[in-house]
Amino acid sequence: MKYGFIGCGNMGGAIVRALSKATSDIAVSDRTGKAKAMAEELGVTYTDNLTIAQTCDRIFIAVKPHMVKDMLAPLRQTLAQRKPVLISMAAGLELSQIEAFAGAALPMIRIMPNTPTAIGQGVIQYCRNTLVGDELLTDWLQDMRFCGLLDRLDEGLIDAASALSGSGPAYMYVLLEALADGAVACGLPRAKAMEYAAMTMAGAAQMYLQTKTHPGALKDAVCSPGGSTIAGIRALEQHGFRGAAMDCVIATYQKNKELGK
Ligand SMILES: NC(=O)c1ccc[n+]([C@@H]2O[C@H](COP(=O)([O-])OP(=O)(O)OC[C@H]3O[C@@H](n4cnc5c(N)ncnc54)[C@H](OP(=O)(O)O)[C@@H]3O)[C@@H](O)[C@H]2O)c1
Repeated sequence: MKYGFIGCGNMGGAIVRALSKATSDIAVSDRTGKAKAMAEELGVTYTDNLTIAQTCDRIFIAVKPHMVKDMLAPLRQTLAQRKPVLISMAAGLELSQIEAFAGAALPMIRIMPNTPTAIGQGVIQYCRNTLVGDELLTDWLQDMRFCGLLDRLDEGLIDAASALSGSGPAYMYVLLEALADGAVACGLPRAKAMEYAAMTMAGAAQMYLQTKTHPGALKDAVCSPGGSTIAGIRALEQHGFRGAAMDCVIATYQKNKELGK
């Protein structure tokens, strides 16, 4: 098999979903068999961790960071003999730590994905160790083409990116729900409020991405002098919205740093 996934939950499953559009040469494993249904749906193989270690050329590590060490322990001998590529998505764990847990010098890629990868709208930062050559990287990037944006980043910045885009969908869903709640309080039906809020977030993001106009200028274009939008912005500022958003990313970053200790 070309790809194996050890762990196939929220994040591993999202990548399997996107990767399976490029290749069905994928095997997945988990602990409890929950991933079987997804494997069946996507036409990939469900197996166990050892079989993945014995047969797959590129192995995604998709278990929680604190479980990586124990999960790799029984696989160390097989990994040392076969030297497959390990692709870790574990928040806070550096390549050198994964290498120590694997017990061998293996080609390794560290990624920081997010869940919209499942629908091809993800953001994935990546870095590699010196055993991953250009040809291998190019082939892997080609296979990952249905995931969304893939961006090379120095390993020292992965935790910061993780606090922004890795965790970011959660922040966006809280904002989406809160904006919709406001509109429901003003009388809009719930379903319409959710759809308008989501489309407004997506549209505003696309305006920035396509024009690269500073968000302050884009905001100014919505705020007429003495108008209603600036009254809403004032309420946001009075409640410390910017500080809350910054603190949110910084708190996540600090927690990421603790995970690696
Ligand atoms: N969720 C995100 O948005 C996100 C974003 C960026 C990075 N990440 C990273 O992605 C990784 C996975 O996170 P997640 O949110 O996907 O967690 P999750 O939904 O809890 O999934 C974890 C998966 O690991 C499996 N697992 C646990 N121990 C195992 C073992 N010993 N052998 C085989 N499978 C095992 C679980 O199987 P069972 O269900 O059978 O127990 C489950 O399929 C983490 O390292 C996290 O830091 C997550």
